Amino acid sequence: MAEPDPSPRRPRLVLAMRPDILDLVLPAPVRARLDALADVHPAPVTDWAAPDAAAPLAAADVLLTGWGCPPLDAAALDRAPRLAAVLHAAGTVKGHVRPEVWQRGIAVSSAADANAAPVVEFTLATVWLAARGALGASAAYARGELPTYRSRRGADGATIGVIGASRIGRGVIDRLRAAPTGFRILLADPYVTAAEAAALGAEHVDPDELCRRSDIVTVHAPDLPETHHLLDARRLALLPDGAAVINTARGRLVDTAALTAECATGRLDAYLDVTDPEPLPPDHALHRLRNVLLTPHIAGCQGTEVQRLGGYAVDELERWTLGEPLLGAVRADDLARIA
Ligand SMILES: NC(=O)c1ccc[n+]([C@@H]2O[C@H](COP(=O)([O-])OP(=O)(O)OC[C@H]3O[C@@H](n4cnc5c(N)ncnc54)[C@H](O)[C@@H]3O)[C@@H](O)[C@H]2O)c1
Repeated sequence: MAEPDPSPRRPRLVLAMRPDILDLVLPAPVRARLDALADVHPAPVTDWAAPDAAAPLAAADVLLTGWGCPPLDAAALDRAPRLAAVLHAAGTVKGHVRPEVWQRGIAVSSAADANAAPVVEFTLATVWLAARGALGASAAYARGELPTYRSRRGADGATIGVIGASRIGRGVIDRLRAAPTGFRILLADPYVTAAEAAALGAEHVDPDELCRRSDIVTVHAPDLPETHHLLDARRLALLPDGAAVINTARGRLVDTAALTAECATGRLDAYLDVTDPEPLPPDHALHRLRNVLLTPHIAGCQGTEVQRLGGYAVDELERWTLGEPLLGAVRADDLARIA
């Protein structure tokens, strides 16, 4: 009987992402690790049908994809008959990986774990701002009013409602638990039991109760048909006066018109990294509210952090070449409940 071959596979790899982000995703040290593991076609592909893409795709064992990768449908896969793995150097694969990829037995991995960490930290920063009523304080400051130590709620003992025990939601809960504030943490997630929530350090509640009891609500569930307007006018009205809404997930989870109306009265504050629509038009009322902080979808990896995504994909490639399980594996069966 032949001995198993212990040597790692050395795949032929094609990059499929916007050329202008290549140096951010794969800066020299990360690129050197990639080149040590695979024969990399020099030019990234952004059009499967381009004449100069035909030969590299016909030979490709692995695609390393990123932002700007075109949809991987049946026609694209027909051009890449050897393809065995799609490693995404970004978060969700829903934008480009079509069902045919799984149907053909191709492994899929995403770097969503690597993109989660900055979103967790961004959320924590906004929790601290919200606990201080920082936006209201800033507006009052502009009117010449100075805060007293009594005029802000403060973080200690605050109740934080986390919607979604996603990888980001769990990371936020971990960081909230580690804070020396005695935060009370509520969690709404239909995929988590009360015992699992308790093990995470949170009390499992339904979204209505979460809204009624939270000083700050932070949204971390995926954009799915059942999460559309999860925070609608009725639930926003359940929030106590002076509460804050943080959304770093997706804009569609919150009813923008209802939230705008609540913030316009000054009853709620909002910290929104994502909106519906996105981008928000410059003349939208939310832009004019001093108690709303709008950021243009920047909670995930930015600038120097983007290399974490490339580094994660290269780690996945190394595991794949060694025949080890992919840590960021994305399975078709999970698509209905993941981002
Ligand atoms: N602002 C940014 O830059 C940025 C970056 C990365 C991710 N995101 C967004 O953050 C959110 C979380 O991302 P992730 O990768 O941690 O998600 P994830 O894929 O880990 O989330 C999946 C989990 O969400 C939970 N969930 C599913 N349906 C739910 C529901 N109806 N109610 C409550 N919870 C539900 C379940 O626990 C499920 O396992 C997503 O909306 C994602 O698009 C934003």
